[in-house]
Formats: sequence, structure tokens, C-alpha cells
Amino acid sequence: MKCIVNGTVVLKDKEIKADVLINDGGRIEKIGSFMIPAGCEVTDAAGKYVLPGIIDMHVHFREPGYEGKEDIETGSRAAAHGGVTQVACMPNTDPVCDNAVVVSYIVHRAKEVGLCKVHPVGAITKGQKGEALADIGKMKNAGAIALSEDGKSVMNSQIMRLGMEYGNGFGLKCLCHCEDINLADGGCVNEGFNSTMTGLKGIPRAAEDIIISRDICLAESIGCPVHICHVSTWSGVEIIRAAKVRGVKVTAETCPHYFALTDDCITSFNTFTKVNPPIREEKDRQAIIRGLKDGTLDCIVTDHAPHALKDKQVEYSLASFGISGIETSFALSYTYLVKSGVMTLPELMQKMSYVPAQILRLEGGEIKEGAPADLFIADLDATYKIDSSAFLSKGKNTPFIGMEVSGKVCKTFMDGRETYSE
Ligand code: DOR
Ligand code: ZN
Ligand code: ZN
Repeated sequence: MKCIVNGTVVLKDKEIKADVLINDGGRIEKIGSFMIPAGCEVTDAAGKYVLPGIIDMHVHFREPGYEGKEDIETGSRAAAHGGVTQVACMPNTDPVCDNAVVVSYIVHRAKEVGLCKVHPVGAITKGQKGEALADIGKMKNAGAIALSEDGKSVMNSQIMRLGMEYGNGFGLKCLCHCEDINLADGGCVNEGFNSTMTGLKGIPRAAEDIIISRDICLAESIGCPVHICHVSTWSGVEIIRAAKVRGVKVTAETCPHYFALTDDCITSFNTFTKVNPPIREEKDRQAIIRGLKDGTLDCIVTDHAPHALKDKQVEYSLASFGISGIETSFALSYTYLVKSGVMTLPELMQKMSYVPAQILRLEGGEIKEGAPADLFIADLDATYKIDSSAFLSKGKNTPFIGMEVSGKVCKTFMDGRETYSE
């Protein structure tokens, strides 16, 4: 038995002062005040918060193939450091995760590492080439929990429709990376004032919005659910809001960099600000925050995209897209959304844990009796500057270096087992 005492526990819709008892099966036995059983291992969380383990439904752990950028072990360690207990990892590996062998490799390797529940996302098409559907049924049987072509869109709408239909038949949702490849072609930042001033080629909002619209349209016409990845545009938020009003089964995510930054940061030519979709303007940032608040945007993910320094220490237009985000998402979200008064802490944790569990139909996402003891202890008063040298991820590529945030992960538990301790 283990016990976390004296903390403030964040339940699904409220926070309470309570102790949490964890049984030897790794589940939450009791929440409240009770006699601590003899021989119980006690963790004192006085002055701290006990929060549901974050479920980050969009990460790149890079294994197999790009272990120089990240592997399942370092990704899992980084996750635990970020308060994350479950992730969905995207298929743009080498080989692409488009078959049962790669899916089961990831499942088995992640279990061996044992620091985070890693759920593979299968590619929609073979080799992510956008031509022939991948082995969807076999990937499902091997443990894939969703489908995605992340890194790009399936540009052929007929293939995309088939992917949605087949996926739906196997209970796998499509997680849509929305980018019209012809409109985005060669761009590396948001198209606007700052792209003009810097001379960097822009990616217009329309490149994202067109595919968001298309994928909603496809899902609506065949009556299956769809999930929109990393929404970055104000107009994308509007499109999703309107679809929800019509009753389309659409869910959507955004990332901390879209509500914490504007493209003013690209004027430094710091390649750590290069991400796809690009960081947009203040109007977009405000719309993303409003969308999170009113439920148009259902959840917060990181799109954790670790890269080696050599992939970033090149001129802006040649640098790889992506931000290493899994170790900063809680602090950034807490700082920008809760401390600033946009939402309450239980509301934030729903967006980071409960809702992703619902979208992917995973067990967990909430601190309650009987649930797996996936949780973390955070010191919300701890204020510090983000320091990428403290990351456990191989990817040190963050545009947030030196930014002051509040909210520090002190300890993380997965199935009652400690996976991180500061
Ligand atoms: O910034 C990004 N990085 N966006 C993507 O869609 C892919 C990702 C990656 O794999 O690095
Ligand atoms: Zn993507
Ligand atoms: Zn991604």
C-alpha cells in the first residue's frame, strides 16, 4: 500500500483536501481521510496538488528509426518528468508505423521501459505515401488505438474517406494533421506581417483551414467521428465551432505553443520557433484560448517533436519543424490558462487528461476510487525559468528557454509506481 497525504486532490470537477490510498494492484483504493494502514509507504504532499496523470494524445517518440532524436525510453522518461502517464505516439517513424509488426514493437518496448503507457497510432496509408490504405485491422489487433498520417495530410480525399470508413469499422478514429501540401509548399512560418518582414516563406491559414473543413465534411458525410490535430488558426476554431453546432462528431486539440506564443518570436530567426502548423498571430492566440474555454477545442496535447540540434542549427528555412514540449506543457498550460484566470485547475486537467481518455476510449484520466493510480504531485507555487538542459528528452528544441512559468512536477506515479521524482 502507498499513501499520498495532506495534498489538494483534483477530481474531475472539483478539488478537495484529501489523502489518497493506493493498493498493491496499482489502483486508487480510497480518497478522503482515513487511518493510514500500518506499513504503508507515505508521501507527504502538504502544500502541493495531486493531479490526474496527463494523457498526451499527440507525441513523437521517434522509435523505430530516429533514435538520435528520441527513443521510447527517453520519451517515456521525459513524459514522466512532465506529469504524463499515457501518450499516443504518431506513426512517422522509419519504418513507418503502418503495420502490425511496428505497432507491436512499440507496445512491447514501451512495456519493457515501463515508465509511461505508450499507445501507438497507426498510419492511414502504407508508408504515409497517401496512396494505399495501411493494414488497419491488423494494426488494431496489435494495439493501435487510432489512425493518423501526422506530419502530413492524406491529400487524396477519396483515400482519406476510405481511411475514415475503415478506421471507423475497427473503432479507430482518424487524428487529422490538416495541411494542404500545395498551399503550404516550402513555407516555414505563418504567412503575414512577420513573414513579409523576415523574408521567410509563409504558410497561409487556408492551408490548414481547407483540410480541417474537408475532413469535417468527410466525417459528416459518412457519419463517423473525427479528431483535428494541433489547431493553430482563429478560422480553424470557427470552422470546428460551427461543425459542433451542426452536430458533427468532431473533437479537436491544440498545443501550448499556440496559446502561449505569437509569430513575433520568429523575428529572432530562432529555429526552435519553427513548428508545423506554424505559430500564428495574436488574433489566433486569442481565438485558441477562447476555443479552449468554450469547449470548441476539447483538449491540450504537446505535439512533442524532439529533434537533434544538428536538425535545428541550420538556416531557418532548412530546419526541421517541431518543438520538444512534453516537459513544459503542464507549467505552460497552468501559467497561461489557470493562473491567468481563463479556467479552473479541474477544467485544465479535464483538457489534459479526462477528455483525451474519452476521445481515445482509454482507461484513466481521472482520480477516483478504483481507477489506476496514474497521477502526479505538483507544486503550483514554484516559479522558475524553463531550462532545456534539465529536459530528460533528447530533444532540447524549445522556444520557451528562459521563460518564467509556475507549476513544477514533483513526483509522477503510473499504476501506483513512481516513474519520476525531482
Ligand atoms: O512540427 C511538427 N513536427 N509538425 C508535424 O506535423 C510533425 C512533427 C515532427 O514529426 O517533427
Ligand atoms: Zn502534425
Ligand atoms: Zn505531430
